[in-house]
Amino acid sequence: MANQSSSTVTIRPARNVSGALRLPGDKSISHRYAMLGAIAQGRTRLANFSTGADCASTLGCVEALGARVQRVEGNGVEIEGTQLRAPSRPLDCGNSGSTIRMLSGILAGQEFSSELTGDESLSRRPMARVIEPLSQMGAAIESSSGRPPLRIRGARLQAIDYKLPVASAQVKTCVLFAGLLAEGETHVEEPVRTRDHGELALRAFGAEVTRQRTRASIVGGQTLRAIDAAIPGDISSAAFFLCAAALFPESNLVIEDLLLNPTRAAILDVLAAMGVRASMIKVEERYGELMGTISLQSGRLRGATIAGGQSALLIDELPVLAAIAPYTEEGIEIRDARELRVKESDRIAAVAGNLRAMGAQVEEREDGLRVPGGQQLHGSEIDSRGDHRIAMAFAVAALRAQGDTLIRGADSARISFPGFFDMLERIVER
Ligand code: S3P
Repeated sequence: MANQSSSTVTIRPARNVSGALRLPGDKSISHRYAMLGAIAQGRTRLANFSTGADCASTLGCVEALGARVQRVEGNGVEIEGTQLRAPSRPLDCGNSGSTIRMLSGILAGQEFSSELTGDESLSRRPMARVIEPLSQMGAAIESSSGRPPLRIRGARLQAIDYKLPVASAQVKTCVLFAGLLAEGETHVEEPVRTRDHGELALRAFGAEVTRQRTRASIVGGQTLRAIDAAIPGDISSAAFFLCAAALFPESNLVIEDLLLNPTRAAILDVLAAMGVRASMIKVEERYGELMGTISLQSGRLRGATIAGGQSALLIDELPVLAAIAPYTEEGIEIRDARELRVKESDRIAAVAGNLRAMGAQVEEREDGLRVPGGQQLHGSEIDSRGDHRIAMAFAVAALRAQGDTLIRGADSARISFPGFFDMLERIVER
């Protein structure tokens, strides 16, 4: 890799992937622990907090709401819980959909008004999905035709029984956070199972949350107590390295202290079904979250069809799976993933466009893609569209291409994983 400008990175083809890694803390868990730490009693101490800019946005917001936040050496963060107070300026959520959607749930239950803003990408993203349930609970929310900025006038919330129209863990968490502050028992029913970090985080901080299949419930008015936690490595970041390793038959990759929550680890199941062997050791549970060390030995790379509930569980890993699909034997088909169109970029269009730029055949569909296998890609110029997962996915695809690949907008990786390109270089052999 040569760094040509802060934002363009060149990836040279590789011969193999091998090494042992430990990753910064999971982004989903970091957001939730930071938000709940801000309203819990006492000082929450978090080790291995996410290094991503998104989680820094969450910390900036809770600080502006009155919670004292202190960075501790080695990616630690300490948050002094407090009674939140009205911020003196709009809360900047940056690029982070998780920040704006989940924090809205907490702000809806406050006695003050607040405004949430974000960057250009976030300003295009749909917020009706949180405005609807929070309004039903009693908050008054103004938006720009269902998009940020959001102006939230908090209220004494009433519990609801809410059926999510889209599978979204962010929205589920938003409603549960609002439910914690509401009068009565709030129920959230999801169309298919999504990541359960919201439920687990609330329990970690001492709240009772019950769950029956796809329905989670919380009684309002419970008090949270600070926690002392080490956050497991981010498995969605690990997915890029796992897929890189999957591309080389001789690869050997170990990732320690990795989040293995079953609602997040579907990437391991898909890779196993494609012929990549992964074994887990030292599995343990911390605050309900499973974690452990995984060791991956690649072999064949068959192909896969990802559809239905599996698409929701793999939503952040689909871009990298699609990016390596041409190198599989049978190709990869992704269905029921329309949500990809409203992420940080339209990820279906971004993946299809960049795969074509590398010479691949791709069939783009409204709710997914079909990428045939057995294709050799050539190095090209990749437009990451300012989307971290697109930049990282194509850095992985570039490892098996013929010729060099230029990743434009590579610095977007800082949104979830600032150290990505350096870590990739550490495990790549040429
Ligand atoms: C997340 C849920 C997903 C995911 C995002 C993080 C979370 O978003 O894409 O990166 O932490 O709950 P949706 O809830 O919009 O599907």
